Amino acid sequence: MPCRGGARMDVKDVRNRAGQLLSLDGKVAIVTGAASGIGHGIAARLAEMGCAVAVLDKNLEGGMETAAEIARDGGRAMAIPCDVRLRSDCREAVNRAVAAYGRIDILCNNAGIVLRKDVLALEEEEWDAVLDVTLKSAYLLSREVIPHMIRNGGGAIVNTGSGWALKGGPKAVSYCAAKGGLLNLTRAMAIDHGKDNIRVNCVCPGDIDTPMLASECRQLGENPEQFMKEAASRPLSRVGTPGDVANAVLFLVSEMSTWITGAHLVVDGGGLA
Ligand code: NAI
Repeated sequence: MPCRGGARMDVKDVRNRAGQLLSLDGKVAIVTGAASGIGHGIAARLAEMGCAVAVLDKNLEGGMETAAEIARDGGRAMAIPCDVRLRSDCREAVNRAVAAYGRIDILCNNAGIVLRKDVLALEEEEWDAVLDVTLKSAYLLSREVIPHMIRNGGGAIVNTGSGWALKGGPKAVSYCAAKGGLLNLTRAMAIDHGKDNIRVNCVCPGDIDTPMLASECRQLGENPEQFMKEAASRPLSRVGTPGDVANAVLFLVSEMSTWITGAHLVVDGGGLA
């Protein structure tokens, strides 16, 4: 492979270069909803790549478990209790992360909840709850984090969307509205903050084996095992893992993707193909 100077790099050089581009040494990330599922996977992967991680979740016990696991594996992490619906919690959590680690380079707006109801069944408070956790939280946290990123000369934000950011799904009106909104928020923020060297992107996972997926089965009165089998009838013949999504997030926050912003990356084993 030719390198910039025109000289050839051997395989070892290419591997070293790829490792450097994916390295997050010296960086600091905030990951929301990191007590469980995909957020847990993202926090663990970023920490493996050298990043200090603030694990934000309303479930402090679960967040502490994620942080302890990361520390056991030789990484740096701290759990911070945060209800992402609340501006005061978001502000306090960001302040604590900055006080502990000195900077913020990466924000993963990952927390989300799903209610499998159509418009007629969905109560107004339920609509608000889904929109607040899944969409408004990205606005609240970005607002707190972006000034720190500007001070550092840039940063990367990755929002966890969904396949249902791109298409509708049955009995999930508030979730589809929130995820569609999150994807377009991603694009709008990318436009506004490109000048600040802040990249804003979205991952759109398909069915991932997490407690949320099991909860959806329960809400729909379906057998989780049967649901997993049906969900696996996609081109790559399995449901996804949090690690599958974490790898895509790593790409989007790393130096591998410095010319990518306002984009979405579908991670669904080909489900939308
Ligand atoms: P999960 O239920 O395993 O984890 C969600 C985490 O968010 C939990 O730790 C929970 O405590 C936290 N959380 C919920 N409300 C919160 C609040 N108000 N403040 C702070 N934290 C809160 O779910 P999963 O599957 O890991 O989902 C993560 C993200 O991935 C969500 O945005 C979800 O919509 C999205 N997603 C998941 C898919 C799946 O099949 N599991 C597919 C597509 C997208």
